[in-house]
Amino acid sequence: MQMPLTVVILAAGLGTRMKSRQAKVLHRAGGKALVEHVVDTALELAPPERVFVVVGHQAEQVRKAVRTPGVAFIEQTEQKGTGHALMVAREALAGMRGYLMILYGDSPLLRAETLRQLMAEAAATDAAGVLLSAHMDDPTGYGRVIRDGRGRVQAVVEQKAGTPEQLALREANMGIYCYRADLFWKHVDEIQPDNPAHEYYLTDMVGILHRAGHAVAAMTIADAREALGINTRIELAEVDALLRDRKRRELMLAGVTIENPETVTVDGGVRIGMDTVIEPFARILGNSTIGENCRVGAGAVLMDTELADEVEIGPYTVITASRLARGAQAGPFARLRPGAEVEERAHIGNFVELKKTRLGAGSKAQHLAYLGDSQIGPGVNIGAGTITCNYDGHLKHPTVIGEGAFVGSNSTLVAPVEIGAGSYIAAGSVITEAVPADALAVGRSRQVNKADWARKRRALRKKQAV
Ligand code: UD1
Ligand code: MG
Repeated sequence: MQMPLTVVILAAGLGTRMKSRQAKVLHRAGGKALVEHVVDTALELAPPERVFVVVGHQAEQVRKAVRTPGVAFIEQTEQKGTGHALMVAREALAGMRGYLMILYGDSPLLRAETLRQLMAEAAATDAAGVLLSAHMDDPTGYGRVIRDGRGRVQAVVEQKAGTPEQLALREANMGIYCYRADLFWKHVDEIQPDNPAHEYYLTDMVGILHRAGHAVAAMTIADAREALGINTRIELAEVDALLRDRKRRELMLAGVTIENPETVTVDGGVRIGMDTVIEPFARILGNSTIGENCRVGAGAVLMDTELADEVEIGPYTVITASRLARGAQAGPFARLRPGAEVEERAHIGNFVELKKTRLGAGSKAQHLAYLGDSQIGPGVNIGAGTITCNYDGHLKHPTVIGEGAFVGSNSTLVAPVEIGAGSYIAAGSVITEAVPADALAVGRSRQVNKADWARKRRALRKKQAV
């Protein structure tokens, strides 16, 4: 019978080497906080009630970053080291039988598959635990795995505490362990802060168990990059690049064309359909979903946005929390703020801004307009320079435009106002009152032509000059 697994994730440290006011595990890579990556991986191995996160620095924000309900948090108010974090967790965790897997919140690339192997390795031997190690060209900063003459793991020595001979070893501790819970809790109190940093090092458990007559095995992974621990912003950038690359490859293998892929940023949770083309420097973020046969133009930024099939987004268009239906077009240089809904085949052109506005099927706003808090029916033409004045300095007001209306260029629609279906608004109008269906509204002063005025003026000026 398989023994149950409990996972504890250490995420209490500030991460001094990040040089940041923000807790390290809140920094983002691949569009997610580091801690979220690790929690998501843990949840592939254990149910939420068996996943624990040790929090300390900015505990509240770290809790918020973990969105899966049921995951429990343990507060480590003072961070006295990774070993101390486990001592603090003892009360909450000691009742959990089986295996205890310890992960660090700053290693977001780790795959569930590797952790499953670690678990299997622990179950297959009678060792007290198994740690994950890797042979690295430059293991600076990592703990080193010390083995005896017969290759058995004896201890892990930290960078700050190692002798030059120990530091010359290339087998690095990845900070991931699977221990038999009973033995772990029996010995955890033996960790002492007897090192130059006066910290309780979790890594000391290896030597403690070894001295107590228990074996600790090491499982070596081929690619150390998978366990890359983020300590500085340089590593953060490296991990981000790796995660971005992973995502782009996944999308390309699933039938998405990405031009100059290394310039394109796509968050992990984004879904994109077959035969969609992503142009260089596009950024597709958050929970965006893109259908099939779409085109996302160069430099476009899409956040939490839904595109149905055959949608075209022109270059340098910025869209947030909006939806575009099948065959819709937006951009180049359009801005869709939260709550824009563009229905089938509707077009939004350059320098047009929408906010909380529905643009009906086949409607067009091709140039230079602001449409806010508006319900615009199907088949409407919004002329260049149309502005909905939705804000009176205190409140926001709605504009309603009926099916097939034609709003002439440079119209000012002072909300709240309703434009009837099939009506015309003369160019340059200021509309402050409802326009009935099928009417023509002219909201501007009538043009007056004064015959010969200009010629007479020129003549007058000439006379004055002499
Ligand atoms: C640790 C290991 C090192 C390993 C490396 C792998 C120890 C002593 N050293 O070093 O052997 O090679 O990871 O990346 O474990 N944390 C707490 N509470 C604390 C201190 C830390 O929760 O009191 C958390 C941090 O938030 C972080 C994780 O533990 O997520 C690791 O801490 P960090 O300071 O990055 O340890 P390293 O120096 O990287
Ligand atoms: Mg670290």
